[in-house]
Amino acid sequence: MNLEIRTAARSSLINHNEKRDHGDKEALNRGKIFLRDGLKKDMAFIQAKAAEWRLDDESLDHGRFIVATDDKKNIVGFGRIKRYEECYELGTVGVAAERRGEGIGETIVRALIERFPTRQVWITTDLTEYFEKFGFQMRSRGPKELRDKISNNCRVKGRRNCKMMLLRK
Ligand SMILES: CC(C)(COP(=O)(O)OP(=O)(O)OC[C@H]1O[C@@H](n2cnc3c(N)ncnc32)[C@H](O)[C@@H]1OP(=O)(O)O)[C@@H](O)C(=O)NCCC(=O)NCCS
Repeated sequence: MNLEIRTAARSSLINHNEKRDHGDKEALNRGKIFLRDGLKKDMAFIQAKAAEWRLDDESLDHGRFIVATDDKKNIVGFGRIKRYEECYELGTVGVAAERRGEGIGETIVRALIERFPTRQVWITTDLTEYFEKFGFQMRSRGPKELRDKISNNCRVKGRRNCKMMLLRK
């Protein structure tokens, strides 16, 4: 998979730049991102960022990732579908700090939901408000493996308020 994407949020950024920096190609191209499947060579970067941003770094498998890149092929974001015995979980979503708020996270999350193998899309997160806008709802009950993960602080120290959320496709 290799898709060129422009999000709604980014279009407005581009319009803003068109007005401000007439003819500035660099600014105009800043909004372009490409989505592709994760590759083995991405994993060192993803592993480092997962540690830095305190994301779930258990069982990292490049085949389960979607990666967003800019037009220079730099990775600007990623996310994955993690497989458990009884369910799948959308997770390990991260966007480069300098590219946040442009809709890249939303584009990745929507692409992951789209390709999710089950109608039930689970997530464990402390960013409940962020995921509510996609239609995820908090759940006190859920697969035991996710309950265990929550009680283990999402495997990552410092994220103490992780909740289980579910979206039905
Ligand atoms: C969470 C994250 C992936 C969002 O990526 P992004 O590309 O900046 O998000 P988008 O541009 O799609 O959405 C931005 C919107 O989300 C909101 N948002 C961002 N972080 C948020 C948070 N922690 N809680 C609630 N809302 C949040 C912004 O306010 C913005 O709102 P608006 O659309 O009303 O202006 C990014 O901030 C990130 O990488 N954070 C660090 C890693 C992390 O915590 N990942 C989630 C693990 S479950």
